[in-house]
Amino acid sequence: MLALGIEGTAHTVGVGIVDETCRVLANVYDMVRPEKGGIHPREAANHHADAVVPLIRKAADVAGVDLGDLDLVAFSQGPGLGPCLRTVATAARALAVALDRPIVGVNHCVAHLEIGRGVTAAKDPVLLYVSGGNTQVIAFARGRYRVFGETLDIGIGNMLDKFARECGLPFPGGPILEKLARDGRTLLPLPYSVKGMDVAFSGMLTAALALRREGKSMEDLAFSIQEVAFAMLTEVTERAMAHLDNDEVLLGGGVACNRRLQGMVDRMAADRGARMFVPPGDLCIDNGAMIAWTGLLMHRGGVRMNLSETVVDQRYRTDEVAAIWRA
Ligand code: ATP
Ligand code: FE2
Repeated sequence: MLALGIEGTAHTVGVGIVDETCRVLANVYDMVRPEKGGIHPREAANHHADAVVPLIRKAADVAGVDLGDLDLVAFSQGPGLGPCLRTVATAARALAVALDRPIVGVNHCVAHLEIGRGVTAAKDPVLLYVSGGNTQVIAFARGRYRVFGETLDIGIGNMLDKFARECGLPFPGGPILEKLARDGRTLLPLPYSVKGMDVAFSGMLTAALALRREGKSMEDLAFSIQEVAFAMLTEVTERAMAHLDNDEVLLGGGVACNRRLQGMVDRMAADRGARMFVPPGDLCIDNGAMIAWTGLLMHRGGVRMNLSETVVDQRYRTDEVAAIWRA
């Protein structure tokens, strides 16, 4: 069975093709890079509209399949930016109707977790999902994927990107800060805000920018932001694992590419006799393969959608999905 998935919740539009063993046959994408400032939903949607058909063709070429060989079309149904979601859903519906194949709408956050289970040895992990817009600790409990902790304000990636932008660095700032942090030596005081199982990052952003104006070095700032922010994330992830008595932790989202975050979570896991899993980078960032694979799991588990059920949901919550394929 071959599934094609289209991702397009935010600034990345991606198309992936996977088979029933979670072999990724193609995973191609294109990303909007705003010249300055953040992303504008309408502009990102226009970008996705131009890019999606060439990407579908490219994915088929890379996979070495004809579109007619596909058995299923999946797309990211939410959460995300309305115009982007609608553009991608329209493309998916057109493809499904043209090929006369079933269509499945996929929850983006659940897809980050499922692709990790698909390509690593993790069976029932706690997922630390850390991306630009999202920061959540997710695990399967009582038939659903549930959010055990999340950011109360901005996503971790957004915080890194905004800090970098204000300091004159290009987008995306996260990987640049990771490099700078390697030469940091002094841990500067930044707010450590963990509230119950939740975290908050906007206070840290404000404090870091104030320290920058005082002339602190970018290396020390990048180092300190990573140390404090990642310690917060590791703490709430550990608490979820303890609560669930779970000995697997999976990383997902673009920030999961960060070696220092991986190192901290790995150390925490090792200390409690647990294991950490990290999918390859192109399956951590927003990508079509994770949508294709989750769509395939859903379809195999009996999920069927008619076109009227493919309406997008900007606020599609992780725990709204009845994960019947896990039963
Ligand atoms: P979402 O998944 O919430 O829709 P997104 O489109 O921003 O958001 P991703 O493509 O998963 O999601 O991740 C992009 C983010 O990952 C950016 O904020 C970027 O700075 C961050 N990032 C990528 N690599 C690294 C790294 N090595 N260290 C820190 N952050 C990183
Ligand atoms: Fe994502």
